[in-house]
Amino acid sequence: MLGRGVVPATEPVLRGNDLGVLRGDGLFETMHLRGGNPWLRTAHLARLRAGAAALELPLPPDGALVELLDGIATGWPTEVEGALRLVCTRGPEGGGLPTVYATLTEVPAATKRLRDVGVTVATLPLGVPATARPELSWLPAGIKSISYATNSAARRWAARSGVDDVLWVSTDGYVLEGPSANVIWLDGDTLCTVPAARTGILPGTTCGWLLDHAAGLGLGRAERMVTPTGLHAAAGIWLTSSVRGLVEVRSLDGTGRPPAPHTPRLQELLGFA
Ligand SMILES: Cc1ncc(COP(=O)(O)O)c(C=O)c1O
Repeated sequence: MLGRGVVPATEPVLRGNDLGVLRGDGLFETMHLRGGNPWLRTAHLARLRAGAAALELPLPPDGALVELLDGIATGWPTEVEGALRLVCTRGPEGGGLPTVYATLTEVPAATKRLRDVGVTVATLPLGVPATARPELSWLPAGIKSISYATNSAARRWAARSGVDDVLWVSTDGYVLEGPSANVIWLDGDTLCTVPAARTGILPGTTCGWLLDHAAGLGLGRAERMVTPTGLHAAAGIWLTSSVRGLVEVRSLDGTGRPPAPHTPRLQELLGFA
């Protein structure tokens, strides 16, 4: 914890009046710890800083955050994949410094398994037009807020509906993102994803990195709006996120999909193979 060093998991790090708890007022980043280092740390810290600016949340300097992350990762076995979470809340009600801490846990075997077996996905209406959120200048969009009540509700809906995950769809019929992942798909030789700036979805570090390196696999890149029908027609659909990495969508809204081309190559590109 910032200012306290490494705190045993059994010791409390938050006060009951922390605005992170009372209002869900704060930001977080989850990084994939591999070989003992947080992968894409610079991109994660840049997204955190952009979110902090949008929320007017004072953040400590990057140097202090890096020191915090290094401190918690020290001694972690390099061969064990970790999920490294950095949390920054607005701190105690009534004023005070932001609360900043990090947690580190092993990536569960069940999560790693999804990279091999893929996921079943259903679309779920989000109840907003695709471009409505970024059009509201007061509304922070595309930030990794700790308020995940809506995201958790979507995951519970998925569990009740017998699917692994969902993709939110706007009222005007466009696929947006999942509650904890971006979507990418293959159109011919082009790897596509949903434009974050236009839709207010989270600009994913994983899909950003993949698209930046798609040329290495001979693939083009594009940001496009897509409908569920458009996705069904794609040769491959994947969900991307820091800890799961890249998982193939094996069924969409109950329709099974043939194995997608490039899944092992994309995973290898991401360093997961
Ligand atoms: C809503 C949402 N979209 C997308 C992502 C994927 O982002 P990243 O690849 O940076 O982990 C996440 C990650 O948890 C998320 O919560």
